[in-house]
Amino acid sequence: MKELRGRVALVTGASRGIGAAIATALAGEGCHVALAARSEDALEKLAAELRQKFGVQTLVLPIDLSDEAQAEAMVAATVAALGRIDILVNNAGAGIYGDITALRSADLRATFDLNFFAPVAAMAAAVPHMRAQGDGVIVNIGSLVGKFPQPLGGGYSASKFALHAASGAARAELKDDNIAVVLVCPGLTDTEFAAHSRISVPGLEDMQGERHAPLRGVAPARVARRVVKAIRRREREVYITLFDRLVVLGAQLLPGLFEWGLLWATKIRRRRFAQAQDKR
Ligand SMILES: NC(=O)c1ccc[n+]([C@@H]2O[C@H](COP(=O)([O-])OP(=O)(O)OC[C@H]3O[C@@H](n4cnc5c(N)ncnc54)[C@H](OP(=O)(O)O)[C@@H]3O)[C@@H](O)[C@H]2O)c1
Repeated sequence: MKELRGRVALVTGASRGIGAAIATALAGEGCHVALAARSEDALEKLAAELRQKFGVQTLVLPIDLSDEAQAEAMVAATVAALGRIDILVNNAGAGIYGDITALRSADLRATFDLNFFAPVAAMAAAVPHMRAQGDGVIVNIGSLVGKFPQPLGGGYSASKFALHAASGAARAELKDDNIAVVLVCPGLTDTEFAAHSRISVPGLEDMQGERHAPLRGVAPARVARRVVKAIRRREREVYITLFDRLVVLGAQLLPGLFEWGLLWATKIRRRRFAQAQDKR
């Protein structure tokens, strides 16, 4: 999709972090943008900024994507208000921490509702419009940990593995309709992701809202620039840094060694949770 000016893009999870950065980057290219998330005030603020700075049309969609019906409705609302949908960016997502065998099943299901079922429902709703237009790009924001399991984050990992699989299948199924499916696999990115993730560790459930990510990642704007490039080139799979690419390659080529690294990471993370429990 070489020319982005005048295109209509729907971005989920646009109230902050990677989604807000992608919406800003697309508006900067001249796209009209529909912004979906639960925080209406943050969406309105961003929409006003984008209209003023780039002169594009905006649509604010205050919705809860854990409800599949709302994921479908946001696509209909975008087409009704902005006339079409050229680009769908399924970005909204959240993590869940805790041993996979100790997660409350309601928490795990809620994670899949948001990270897997909502993007699939949005794709299903967007495809008929893109098919009728004869063109479209769907971007699914997966994760590096959709390529290998994240210790004490296995529930989140599993939801991203599922999204990766759905993206690959859709890419093949939609190719003849001229609809591209781009899977983006970011590594650690400097957002409020950890603070908004569920903690399903006994005694630490209320830790939600506290930032506990051990490292600072890349800037969301860098992810957004890479996403815009991938949309233009209709790329199939995208990594943000060379390091991310090498980590995935390592997991594939040296699974034994990689698993040793995962055991080590599990110990560190478990110790961190234990320290947090001791402090209480
Ligand atoms: N940060 C990282 O290190 C990293 C790494 C790899 C992949 N990712 C992926 O990148 C994507 C964006 O994450 P981020 O880092 O930007 O996290 P973030 O700052 O927590 O942003 C998450 C976005 O999703 C929205 N959202 C959450 N629950 C929602 C719901 N039920 N309904 C509608 N919107 C909802 C949030 O808006 P509201 O709260 O206003 O609803 C927010 O706009 C996610 O899919 C994440 O899995 C992140």
